[in-house]
Amino acid sequence: MTILLNPGPVVLSERVRQALLKPDLCHREQEFIKLQNKIKTDLLNIYQLPEEQWTSIVFTGSGTSAMEGMITSLVPSHGKVLIIENGVYGERLSYIAKTHNIEHVILHHEWGEEIDLTKLESELLCNRQLSHIAVVHHETTTGRLNDIDAIAELSNKHGRIPLLLDAVSSFGAEEIKFKEWNIAACAATANKCLHGVPGTSFVISNREAITQMSATPARTLYLDLVTYMKLQDSNSTPFTQSIQTFYALAEALDELNDAGGWRKRQKQYWQRMDIVRNGLLELNMKASLERNETSCVLNSFLLPEGISYEELHDKLKNAGFIIYAGQGGFAKSLFRISCMGDISNNDLERFIEEMKKIVQ
Ligand SMILES: Cc1ncc(COP(=O)(O)O)c(C=O)c1O
Repeated sequence: MTILLNPGPVVLSERVRQALLKPDLCHREQEFIKLQNKIKTDLLNIYQLPEEQWTSIVFTGSGTSAMEGMITSLVPSHGKVLIIENGVYGERLSYIAKTHNIEHVILHHEWGEEIDLTKLESELLCNRQLSHIAVVHHETTTGRLNDIDAIAELSNKHGRIPLLLDAVSSFGAEEIKFKEWNIAACAATANKCLHGVPGTSFVISNREAITQMSATPARTLYLDLVTYMKLQDSNSTPFTQSIQTFYALAEALDELNDAGGWRKRQKQYWQRMDIVRNGLLELNMKASLERNETSCVLNSFLLPEGISYEELHDKLKNAGFIIYAGQGGFAKSLFRISCMGDISNNDLERFIEEMKKIVQ
């Protein structure tokens, strides 16, 4: 069996794989609505969010569709969003705003850089009319876990601006403080830390924030979360959904709950990541960020001298492990390892042994 160490899709558990084989279903039948409602409730329960204040809007699409649905459905026509960039996905948030003509300002950092709080504070002081701040929680480009506590503290100091959070690669394994961080909405997906299959994504939104948007004309037809919320609240769905991936997500959510929830998953991922970090360090392969700067989900490592990414990838693939390339300018200097999915500590120890054979 191939062990996927890329940041999603993940190695499926047998339980989730079997869920894909459940009976065929029409999305207009009550069995589907029951499935949809169960997923919606279970998603809120992960972070103990009360249904009266929060809603989870679940739909067919990859993580980017959740990002695009969130930005286009939550920023009003008179709104202006401050987008913080320090990697590919922060830049994608800006691209979405640009594509939809949404007024925005960008606080840019080089990929991997820590968010500069002094610069953020001056942006907040210069731009008094901001309706939202948009930021990526775990920037998968490098593995950096952005300091949302610090961002929220500054935002609270300067007008308590609601946050639009890309939690695509952190939801289910990292702490998300919905209330404290003043989150208006957060975008995520089934096929990363939740261990479902690709094809289903969701946005968890504060009900008041999204209800306020009912007065604003929708920017998109397919990703209009206001319509989604109204229809899902009344036991319906606007479009045909990917039934099998819904089945898989429902099972994956049960599995997460049975395993003890997000805190247990975080602990498990750290155990795995420590095997990788320590094992690679012994082989002189350093992580690009300190342990306390990264997520438990993915870390990036400097490529060993004299070995190209392609060579490393191909040799590891032959040995049954898929690693992930650095993006853009990092393609020749970094590789990335993710610890999600139904893998074991033993798999990671074997991975280190295979690395040893290649670099020594
Ligand atoms: C932080 C983050 N945001 C968004 C995405 C986009 O997700 P997708 O490729 O499923 O559209 C990813 C994918 O890796 C991600 O890591």
